[in-house]
Amino acid sequence: SVRRKLIAGNWKMNGSRAQLAELSAIAAAAREAAGVDVAICPPFTLISLAAARAGGLAIGAQDCHQSDSGAHTGNVSAPMLKEAGARLTIVGHSERRADQHESDALVSAKAQAAIRHGLRTIVCVGESEADRAAGRAGKVVSAQLSGSLPDPEGDGEMVVAYEPIWAIGTGKSATTADVAEMHALIRAHLIDNFGDRGGRIRILYGGSVKAENAAELFAVDNVDGALVGGASLTAEQFVPIIQAAA
Ligand code: G3H
Repeated sequence: SVRRKLIAGNWKMNGSRAQLAELSAIAAAAREAAGVDVAICPPFTLISLAAARAGGLAIGAQDCHQSDSGAHTGNVSAPMLKEAGARLTIVGHSERRADQHESDALVSAKAQAAIRHGLRTIVCVGESEADRAAGRAGKVVSAQLSGSLPDPEGDGEMVVAYEPIWAIGTGKSATTADVAEMHALIRAHLIDNFGDRGGRIRILYGGSVKAENAAELFAVDNVDGALVGGASLTAEQFVPIIQAAA
C-alpha cells in the first residue's frame, strides 16, 4: 500500500505517571515494526512526561482548542500541545461529540488549528447504533465528513478515524464487511474532496480493536491502521496489535 499503517492508542481519561512505564515496551515494539507508525495519546497532564520518555514513539493529545490562546478556561491550544511535545492530536472523538456537544463545525475548526500548527490530526467520525439499525450509517458518516474535515493546508497531516459508536468499548467490533464498505465510502469522499492527496490520507478503524481481531481488520482494503482505546493501556495488549500491522 502507498500508506504506512498507523496504530494510535487513545488512553482517554486513564493513565498515571506510573502507567508511563508501559511506554518503553511499546516503543521497543514500534522500533521493531518497520513500516508502522505508532502513537500514544495520554491525558493532557501526562503529555510532557510521556514525550520525554517516548523513545521514538509519537505522543499526541486527545483534543485541542480551535484558538491559539485567550479566555477559554480549561482548554488547551495547538501551540501549547506542540510545546509540550505532542506531535499529533485527535479531534472530534464521539465521546467529545456527545459529552461536550461538539458540532461538525467545531471539530473542523479544531482540526484546522491543529494542522496550522503542524500537528498530525486524527479526525473521528462514526454512526450510532440507532443510525446503523435505521440504515443511515453511510449518510451520517458522509455528513460528518462534509462538516468535520479541515481545509487542506499547512504542514500537518490529516488522518480519518472511523469509529462506529456501538463498537467503542463494547467488545463488539464491526464486521470486516461493514468496515470495508464504510472505509470505501470514506476513501471516495476523500478523493472527491482532496484529489490525489485523498488517496494518501490514512483511514483508521476504531472500536474494540484487540490482538484477536487486529490482523483481520488490517487485511481489509482502506484500513490503514487503528485507533485503539482500552487495549492501548498496557504493552501486553497493545504490542500484539502493532505486530499485526507490521
Ligand atoms: O479512540 C478509541 C476508540 O474510542 C476505541 O475504544 O478500543 O476501547 O473500543 P476501544
